[in-house]
Amino acid sequence: MMPARVAVFLGLIVAAVPAAAVDNAMRHGEYLFRAAGCVTCHTDEKHQGAPLAGGRALTTRFGTFYTPNITPDPETGIGRWSEADFVRALREGKSPAGEPYYPAFPYTSYTRLTDADIRAIKTYLFSQKPVRRVNQPHKLPWYLRSRQTLNIWKTLFFKSGVFQPQPEQSPKWNRGAYLVTAVAHCGECHTPRHLLGGYKESLRFAGAAAGVDGDAVPNITPDKKTGIGQWRQSDLVDYLETGATPDGDYAGGAMAEVIDNNLTQLTKDDRQAIAVYIMSLPPVTAVAHKNDRDKKGLKKSRNQAN
Ligand code: HEC
Ligand code: HEC
Repeated sequence: MMPARVAVFLGLIVAAVPAAAVDNAMRHGEYLFRAAGCVTCHTDEKHQGAPLAGGRALTTRFGTFYTPNITPDPETGIGRWSEADFVRALREGKSPAGEPYYPAFPYTSYTRLTDADIRAIKTYLFSQKPVRRVNQPHKLPWYLRSRQTLNIWKTLFFKSGVFQPQPEQSPKWNRGAYLVTAVAHCGECHTPRHLLGGYKESLRFAGAAAGVDGDAVPNITPDKKTGIGQWRQSDLVDYLETGATPDGDYAGGAMAEVIDNNLTQLTKDDRQAIAVYIMSLPPVTAVAHKNDRDKKGLKKSRNQAN
């Protein structure tokens, strides 16, 4: 009896492998896709836009960008793209026609994703519903309208290349570094940019006075006075899950969105890995924003909702 059962069991496993492999790639892709926040930028939630059909306005000091449709619709989305096109967009910041993208699309971080992870994201993305919605042009000053200007920007400020693990660090630290710098692109908001839109490298993660939507973004290096050096690692893990700060406040604005849409979807292990990496950063003394937390309505409403 036993051997027969074992045989049936093994048979099931063998038969299940191909389907399970696809299933796994899909699940893996979905996980990364959520952690990377693709849906947040590519959905015009404010105007009840369809998921991933684009049209969300991103206000920056360089102008207003309208995200494109990234559903698999062949006419108005990216349904005709090959896998190579997709990898090139995220790794090189280049369209299938060879045109450079504006860094409002955070390929400056996604370039660090592994090929396998980019392909998994595409598998998931292409399983989503195609939506017909024609892209709208960005509203930019004349000198930024030409994508040729962008090639100069890219030469100066963009370095493509997959994340390189540091063997002297623990696997957990490396996982955290990958999540922070490649997937969840924390630095896109928390690192200040100079006038030309490149990063101020000496102020990595030290906050930005006018970040997304003109809001101030805090210093998240473990500096005791101006950063989160007073937080315990477990405080940070909690914050990334619930938005609650150690002093009993709640995350607001863009960070509330990052927590709700991306970070709550991660496993606890991954949130811990992020915290391990962030707490290992060199502390940088820099005040990018005043901690006048209750001035923002969003925080209050979130506070009440909780
Ligand atoms: C911070 C906002 C933001 C996030 C997050 C974001 N994107 Fe985008 N994305 C943009 C913007 C803005 C553009 C348009 C860039 C341009 O016009 O040069 C863009 C362009 C693209 C394009 C090119 C589409 C085309 O028609 O040429 C693809 C593909 C894309 N994004 C996929 C993704 C994927 C996949 C993710 C998640 C891994 C993602 N994006 C996350 C803002 C974002
Ligand atoms: C889209 C922009 C954006 C991204 C991406 C982002 N943040 Fe934030 N973050 C903010 C803003 C804005 C605030 C301020 C929130 C507030 O006012 O409550 C913030 C606040 C924080 C705080 C609280 C600091 C304090 O002193 O209260 C921490 C910690 C933090 N972010 C960590 C992260 C980590 C880790 C990541 C990546 C996993 C990340 N953030 C990604 C915009 C962003």
